[in-house]
Amino acid sequence: MVYRPYVVRVQEISVEVIKRLKEGISGEKIAEMLGVSRTSIWKFVRRLEDFGYIVERRRGVGYRIVKSPDLSPYEVALICKDIDLINEVYYYTVTDSTNQRAKDVAKPKVLFIAERQTKGRGRYGRTWMSKVGGLYFSITLPQELPIEDVPKLTLTTGVAIANALNGTLKWPNDVLYKGRKLCGILCELLGEVENPLIVVGIGINVNNPTPEEGISLKEIYGKEVSRVDVLRKVLKSFKYYYYRLLSGGWIEIREEWKALSETLGKNVIVRTVNRTYKGLAVDLDEDGGLIIKSGQNLVKVFSGDCFYQKI
Ligand code: BTN
Repeated sequence: MVYRPYVVRVQEISVEVIKRLKEGISGEKIAEMLGVSRTSIWKFVRRLEDFGYIVERRRGVGYRIVKSPDLSPYEVALICKDIDLINEVYYYTVTDSTNQRAKDVAKPKVLFIAERQTKGRGRYGRTWMSKVGGLYFSITLPQELPIEDVPKLTLTTGVAIANALNGTLKWPNDVLYKGRKLCGILCELLGEVENPLIVVGIGINVNNPTPEEGISLKEIYGKEVSRVDVLRKVLKSFKYYYYRLLSGGWIEIREEWKALSETLGKNVIVRTVNRTYKGLAVDLDEDGGLIIKSGQNLVKVFSGDCFYQKI
């Protein structure tokens, strides 16, 4: 199956035109910016209308966007324009998994986003239910961190999103609200290409139906929530924490992780690929590993599926 994206370069002129259209702009100016004749502006306006924009045209004054869609490739590009982290937006109405798209395209600084996913991937081979109304996106980052620090990026992403959404953290990076899952993060390393990439996949329950153990922002706030606003907040926070991590801020980020954590102090069962650990979660170590006190022993785990023990 071929999934066709709508690709927008963050710096392309049409993104700037949309920004100006939100304030109101003359037809002459649009034509000049896009390098088209005034009579061909309608093609551009029609494309915007297809994405759900309502564009008002006033004779002698010009054009103005009076309503923007909840999500569109241009809205995403406008957010990215303010956040110097992403060069291109690949927007899909449907795809298998944005992490898979990111791996196939294998280009850094791209944001892949889908209205829904047919094979949304979760950690440990689980599926991530991805119905319409949620936010499903993946960011590709050049591998600027040493490979052994990638688990720290996973934890840092959790801190960034928990802060943006007022959530708590379940190790390693599930963002919860009142014990129910609001956001899942799946970081994958793409090491076989010439320039290795990190794919950060993020699924946020916004207005979508969730599995029983999940919760959406719509449920929390009792009304529909703007996905563009959530994306803007999350990307800003992600950028802030990502640069802090790159500039040696892990020690403080780790303290923030601990403060947001609802895992520390709980009896946990952690399943890794070939072992299961049971005990009290006592600390997050400097390397980003979870320290579990099992009897008299302390063990450190870097990845795994974490469950709370019912006592
Ligand atoms: C988890 O198991 O908690 C991680 C879920 C990650 C889901 C997101 S949705 C966007 C991206 N594409 C995927 O296929 N998975 C991640």
